[in-house]
Amino acid sequence: MIALGSDHAGFALKEKIKQYFDEKKIEYKDFGCYAPESFDYAVAASRACKAVVRGECEKAILCCGTGIGISMAANKIKGIRAAACSNYFGAKLTRAHNDANVLCLGERVTGYGLALELVDVFLNTEFEGGRHQRRIDMISALENGEEIE
Ligand code: RB5
Repeated sequence: MIALGSDHAGFALKEKIKQYFDEKKIEYKDFGCYAPESFDYAVAASRACKAVVRGECEKAILCCGTGIGISMAANKIKGIRAAACSNYFGAKLTRAHNDANVLCLGERVTGYGLALELVDVFLNTEFEGGRHQRRIDMISALENGEEIE
């Protein structure tokens, strides 16, 4: 189950992703917004990411104008590793190396075709673990206010 969320500036992209998921029979839960009227990205990030942290959704895909504001909000939630991506390599490596659980996309930055490719590679790339796990553990320690050196 994939959590989806957007503000007004990412609404149309979220709708494209829903269409894509319907075609691919990928299950999702839409946490809003539900219309293109002004909607704050932090609210969408909070709703979708909390579903990931609770274990109700495996990952989240969030959309705003740039993908940046919504990723900043998402990364304030404990247990979330959100990556704002606009290229294929980044979307792949943020899974392989950072074990990102949230992909953030910018509707005003990335065309629909590429955005769907990014969603696809993000959902289909496994975390490599190994030396990367130590670094993820360091991120978690920072999140807990611990010293890491
Ligand atoms: C909304 O106008 C826009 O600021 C927002 O979608 C996002 O791009 C912020 O990072």
